[in-house]
Amino acid sequence: MAEPIILCENLVKIYKIQDVEVLALQGLELTVQRGELMGIVGASGSGKSTLMNVLGGLVRPSAGKTIVDGHDLLKLSDAQINKYRREKVGFVWQQGARNLIPYLNALENVEMPMTLAGVHGRRTRQHAAELLEMVQLSHRRHHKLGQMSGGEQQRVAIAVALANNPRILLADEPTGELDSATALTIYEAFQALNRELGLTILIVSHDPTIARHVQRVMQIRDGKAASETVRRRRQPETATATVTGAASEHHDDHFEELVVLDSVGRLQLPKQYREALNLHGRARMELVDNHLIIRPVPPEDLHQLPSELRQQVEAAEEKEDGRLQQWLHKLRWKKVIE
Ligand SMILES: Nc1ncnc2c1ncn2[C@@H]1O[C@H](COP(=O)(O)OP(=O)(O)OP(=O)(O)O)[C@@H](O)[C@H]1O
Ligand SMILES: [Mg+2]
Repeated sequence: MAEPIILCENLVKIYKIQDVEVLALQGLELTVQRGELMGIVGASGSGKSTLMNVLGGLVRPSAGKTIVDGHDLLKLSDAQINKYRREKVGFVWQQGARNLIPYLNALENVEMPMTLAGVHGRRTRQHAAELLEMVQLSHRRHHKLGQMSGGEQQRVAIAVALANNPRILLADEPTGELDSATALTIYEAFQALNRELGLTILIVSHDPTIARHVQRVMQIRDGKAASETVRRRRQPETATATVTGAASEHHDDHFEELVVLDSVGRLQLPKQYREALNLHGRARMELVDNHLIIRPVPPEDLHQLPSELRQQVEAAEEKEDGRLQQWLHKLRWKKVIE
């Protein structure tokens, strides 16, 4: 497979405020191929914006590996990361006002990042006009922020983000303040850019329907990639239960939520499963045929280790295992078991 445009392995981000440390990303794993259109969902505080800010070079990762378009973000100097941020990534934020300068019109807003990057002249105006056309806003080119609807503002914001021809477009809840019909126009703009320019796009969202508008959705829980929803054409008879039942929630058979295993095999069990089975601390795991069975350990089993130990020792006695015999003797001597 081609080299991914984004590779995060065991990505950790710790914010420090005075003496308090907040673990915002706790070993996140993510691989994104060039030209993917991907959604990122997760509860508030799960680390979505932190991930966007790390990938965008606004925030430094604390540990792990973060390679974006060949750049190791942990190792770039300050000057290199500023250049990276200007040239490689485009941002779209939730609030229109954060994306646009209110006293400039749409065209001037799109020209601004080019001017800041030292590009001047007729070419900037022409490129800005092309970008506005791409988001279907040529007719609003002379409108200022306050003279456009929320959806139009966000489409101008997308054009602004694309002004310096970034490799990756990062959008943090770009539809958060829009109604669902307007949000759809924003998703359509992202889809068109992804299709026509081959642009890699990551969209953070709280919108439960986002899986319909992108190719796959990663769910972050507690700073880790927990599961992934993929589009899959499945025959009803081969359909299996999904991790969280997302497919049935969507009333659509073509989405399947898969649990993510990190590079050393760790996975997160969804909270509702842990609660349903009362899973805490330890679980029993068993490989049966082609299935892995995870079972709760009854509390009495966890608290009665001496009796389990006794069983092991008794079994060993039968096999006349000398070393364990000695161990048994020691345990008796120490009065750990009777
Ligand atoms: N600059 C910061 N300094 C300290 N802690 C921070 C900072 N930014 C985020 N955090 C903390 O890191 C954790 C992850 O925050 P983040 O903003 O990434 O979450 P999020 O998934 O984007 O949430 P939301 O859906 O509410 O936007 C939270 O506990 C948050 O309080
Ligand atoms: Mg956020």
